[in-house]
Amino acid sequence: MNLLVIGKGGREHALVWKLRQSPRAGKVFCAPGNAGTAAEGATNVAIDHTETDKLNRFCAREQIGLVVIGPEDPLAAGLADYLRDKGFRVFGPSKEAARIEGSKVFAKELMRHADVPTADFQVFDHPGPARTYVETRDYPVVVKADGLAAGKGVVVCKDNTEAMQAVRRIMTEEEFGRTAGRKIVIEKKLDGEELSVLALVSGRTILPLPACQDHKAVNDGDKGPNTGGMGAYCPAPAATPKLMAEFERDVFVPVVHAMKRARYPFQGVLYAGMMLTNQGSRVLEFNARFGDPETQPVLMRLKTDLLDLLEAVADERLHEFENKVEWDPRPAVCVVLCSGGYPGKYDNGKEITGVAEADALPGVKVFHAGTKTDDKGRVVTDGGRVLGVTALGSDLAAAKARAYEAVKLIRFAGMHYRTDIADKALKVKPVAAPVEPPKLPAKFRRPGGDKPATS
Ligand code: AMP
Ligand code: GLY
Repeated sequence: MNLLVIGKGGREHALVWKLRQSPRAGKVFCAPGNAGTAAEGATNVAIDHTETDKLNRFCAREQIGLVVIGPEDPLAAGLADYLRDKGFRVFGPSKEAARIEGSKVFAKELMRHADVPTADFQVFDHPGPARTYVETRDYPVVVKADGLAAGKGVVVCKDNTEAMQAVRRIMTEEEFGRTAGRKIVIEKKLDGEELSVLALVSGRTILPLPACQDHKAVNDGDKGPNTGGMGAYCPAPAATPKLMAEFERDVFVPVVHAMKRARYPFQGVLYAGMMLTNQGSRVLEFNARFGDPETQPVLMRLKTDLLDLLEAVADERLHEFENKVEWDPRPAVCVVLCSGGYPGKYDNGKEITGVAEADALPGVKVFHAGTKTDDKGRVVTDGGRVLGVTALGSDLAAAKARAYEAVKLIRFAGMHYRTDIADKALKVKPVAAPVEPPKLPAKFRRPGGDKPATS
């Protein structure tokens, strides 16, 4: 069966890599793909997901038996519906169902309706009432742009001033785009450990995958701005069997059933971003797709044929796999290597070396994300998140050690990464916060600050 994977990230390289292991996989294409998908033996196709007509003709010409859509943008734009209408088999939710990720308002109202535990919230379509709401809260809030904003439309605020600024940036200045900022959700800020809980969903069948933990902040110790994800490990020991059963009962079942009843059934991967608070688990967000980088360690551990699984989802036969999916018992750790400056501005085109040596280590797989082959045939950086170095180990500590051993072999100018992926599960203390300078006696303090004047 010929296959087409849509996307160009680490997630898509992992999907291509795993799909190609299926004895039933014929030619595998990736649109647009990266240097890693090409090296994997897939054919990269220079068609953008918005060029739907071209994709349709491509699928017809290459007799594509299954299209797997990786990222959220094509799902939110309705690519799955379009290709299904043309008669192709697609893994991924419809445009209506993908609103669970594409619209924070939709997701929160669905959760309220289905009685799914989530942070208290209110929806606003004007900045005035939003500001009044912020002023009357006696707890810190999170302000979320309704629409997709390349993962940047969520502002976790430490106080009211920041929340007011967030309302202005999203609604008045339309920093995340006009549509994304038309409505906002303001919700209570929660504290706790985060888990990524993904499940294959088709019809009434929900098949949870082993839970992962992502690392969103750019620096060690969860410091610095949020990114798309700096690394992940799987399984996350925090997701005990009891918690997983709770997630299924209190989150996945009510949501999947509510969507089915409302006539926009979900088909694909439903990803619940959970926070384990002192008051119990709460959903922070839903995604309508595989996580990135979560997919890399998850698929490293999957033993069952991925093509069989994805096809069963698309055909609504997923129940055939209940209690039958096989996993490598070894945990996997993925460390993401980024371009200098990411998640801010960065330059592309830096030559990458050492990937083959890293890949040759036992239990290691280097997944490409922002990479391409330049006109001299060199593999160069082409994005913020460049590589996802993923390793299996006899236990989490061994997987982490092996992943970092591989990382040490790879080089490109400006490369940076976190050194503490999986430490939370290993109960390693976070790096100590920088020591505060001692407070100076009052006579040396400047009005409004306690640092001495330097000039
Ligand atoms: P979202 O796009 O909704 O997942 O938000 C991105 C990130 O923002 C999450 O992974 C959390 O780290 C953080 N976040 C979202 N909602 C909340 C909340 N209610 N309380 C604390 N952090 C949150
Ligand atoms: N790793 C977070 C995401 O895929 O959204």
